[in-house]
Order: sequence, then C-alpha cells, then structure tokens
Amino acid sequence: MTKILAFAGSLRKDSYNKLMVKAALAGAKAAGAEVTFIDLADYPLPFMDEDLEKREGLPANARKLKELFKSHQGLLIATPEYNKSIPAVLKNVIDWVSRPVPDEKPFEPFAGKVVGTMSASPGAFGGIRALGHLSFILNNISFIVLPDGYSLVKAHEVFNPDGTIKDAKTAETVAGIGRKVAELARKTHG
Ligand code: FNR
Repeated sequence: MTKILAFAGSLRKDSYNKLMVKAALAGAKAAGAEVTFIDLADYPLPFMDEDLEKREGLPANARKLKELFKSHQGLLIATPEYNKSIPAVLKNVIDWVSRPVPDEKPFEPFAGKVVGTMSASPGAFGGIRALGHLSFILNNISFIVLPDGYSLVKAHEVFNPDGTIKDAKTAETVAGIGRKVAELARKTHG
C-alpha cells in the first residue's frame, strides 16, 4: 500500500499548519493511502553541527526521521512563514535528514518522492513566501514537489474547534493536495 507521511514545520501545540496538514492527510487516506502524521515536537534535534556529526554520527531522532522518510512513498508538509521564510525547526530537520549515512548516496532516500506543500498563516498572504523557499529546498534534494502548493490565509478564522475546516471549498482543496500526492506516489512507486 502507498504510504504517505505528513508533518508541519511548527512545534506549537495549536499550530494551524498541523491542522492543515492533517486535513490534507485525510484526503490521502480517502484516496486509499496508508497515512502517518508526526509532530516534530516529538523529535527534538540539536542544531546541525558538523563537528557533532563527525563525533557521533546522526542523532537518534535524525535517524528515526530519515527512516520515516525512507519508508513512505510520498510526503505532505505544511510550513509556517517566519520572517518571510521557513522556520528554523523545519530547515534543521531537512538539513539533518539530508546527511548521507554510510553506504548511502547523497539524497538517495528522497529521489523521486512526491511532496505536497502547503502553508497556513493568520496573515493575508498565507505564508506564500515560505512556500516558495520550501519548494526550492526540496527540489534541490531530489524530491518531486507538486507545482500547486497552497497557502491558507487568515488561518485563525478557518478551523472549527474540532480542527476541521469550516468552508467546504477550502476543505476540498486541502484534501485534494493529499489525494494528488497519494495518487502520484502510487503511480510512481506502486
Ligand atoms: C511569524 N509569523 C509570520 N506570519 C506571516 O504570515 N509572515 C511572516 O513573515 C511571519 N513571521 C513570523 C516570525 C516569527 C518568528 C513568528 C514566531 C511568527 C506569524 C505566524 O504566521 C503565526 O505565528 C502562525 O500561527 C505560525 O504557524 P503555526 O504555528 O500556527 O502553524
């Protein structure tokens, strides 16, 4: 079965991006994928430090995240926008998992894997500038990023108390990202 991994680039308990990526993941599940949501707060990491890497190799949580990236055929990532770019916590995760372990070619675990990207912000631009940065980074480490990344504006007004999206059209658009990732991952990886 096609497996899709989802997470948000936010540690915040009530993160809009966590809610958004969960809504997209529901779309992947409805399309028949096996789905995994992870919270990056459960995978604390030191800042990327090449001296530490030389001494100790990848931290345990970086290895766990890398294994999750490897064992799933597609990804869904929702990023907040911090100062017009992606948050440090997300960049740090990408930097750690991008490091090859022995006998691995650079970026081999990501080659050809499909990623659906999205962003949510209380602001009027919905984090669109962070989304561009995220796509650029992911393309450079061999992921296939779906072209239609989606930015959710005024995120503080979007969700019901149970975390579902109030507006049916918006809910369908977000679920559609998950569906597209599941379908494309199935076509490319079986
Ligand atoms: C922000 N926020 C923000 N919003 C935005 O639309 N553009 C921006 O450049 C920034 N910059 C920024 C910097 C820093 C350091 C913080 C902490 C916040 C606001 C941000 O969109 C808001 O806190 C979101 O709620 C964060 O996403 P989560 O945690 O709800 O997923």
